[in-house]
Amino acid sequence: MSTMKETIEQIQKELTELKAASQKEVEEARVRFLGKKGSVTALMEQFRSVAPEMKREYGQKLNELKKSVTAKIEELKEQAAAAAVELAPKQDLTMPGDPFELGSRHPVSIVRQEIVDIFRKFGYDVAEGPEVEDDWHVFEALNFPPNHPAREMQDTFFVSTGHLNPLLLRTHTSSVQVRTMETHPLPIRVICPGRVFRNEAISARAHCIFHQVEGLYIDKNVTFADLKQAILLFAREMFGPDTQIRMRPSYFPFTEPSAEVDVSCNICHGKGCNICKGTGWLEIMGCGMVDPNVLEASGIDSKVYSGFAFGMGVERIAMLKWQVNDLRHYFENDMRFLHEFATATEV
Ligand code: DAH
Repeated sequence: MSTMKETIEQIQKELTELKAASQKEVEEARVRFLGKKGSVTALMEQFRSVAPEMKREYGQKLNELKKSVTAKIEELKEQAAAAAVELAPKQDLTMPGDPFELGSRHPVSIVRQEIVDIFRKFGYDVAEGPEVEDDWHVFEALNFPPNHPAREMQDTFFVSTGHLNPLLLRTHTSSVQVRTMETHPLPIRVICPGRVFRNEAISARAHCIFHQVEGLYIDKNVTFADLKQAILLFAREMFGPDTQIRMRPSYFPFTEPSAEVDVSCNICHGKGCNICKGTGWLEIMGCGMVDPNVLEASGIDSKVYSGFAFGMGVERIAMLKWQVNDLRHYFENDMRFLHEFATATEV
């Protein structure tokens, strides 16, 4: 059996090499040294039978040993606790979550969707076409002859390609009418929402990029009365059941006859106000019976088929619907403006 001195030295050596990877291991070490059956506890018991003249020396040694064991255990405990914090997930899971703001639809998207939904209910399909177009689909097939002054009604952006036939940014969604007539079996009943481009100075009433919705209906025996009915139903869905419409003769190369459509002012109900400039009426779209030349250009027999078309500006409808008096609000994305529509649509 080893002497007490040797055991003390042995424990001290063990102590310098002692490591613990976790709090559990620290506790196991504590029990091994200081528990009821621990090696230090055993030494304390052995101390009772030490010869009286040796008690002072061994008493001191044992006290030092116990102190250093306790200190070492304490040190390891702290290290293990720190390591546990390192390993633990950093978030405090009891904290409330970070709220993030939901996006909302842009007012122009809201109105475009509303227009599309109304015509879908009437049985129209949705058709789309390219924004970069050729002269044929934007002008030629729509009965704008080359050098016809009507082309100047629409300030066109051209895309330089170096080709003989330049490409251009479509100035209206009527180009999608042509693409539909070229490919779609008859009868045709489509609406074509899309973005259009015109070389215009930006002001409260004009922008170089805006949105239109085009409508086209082609079948046998389609009449102007059908056109009027379709637009009246649309206007009442869009602006309210009491809405009246009126048509004024107009001119577009692709329709004959052509008209511009006004709706009764939904603010003053026809009495006359700032928005309708005292007239009681607000212009909402152009329309007409598809010109026979346009049908023929796309290979449709104008003796058998007839049709109507209409086109409206989405921003214009949105301005009337929400009484916004400056078109630029729809393009600047000022959050204060957009927020008004976020609450309006969070139903
Ligand atoms: N394309 C016309 C424009 O951009 C709008 C238009 C008028 C479309 C009459 C039509 C129509 O289909 O029949 O000003």
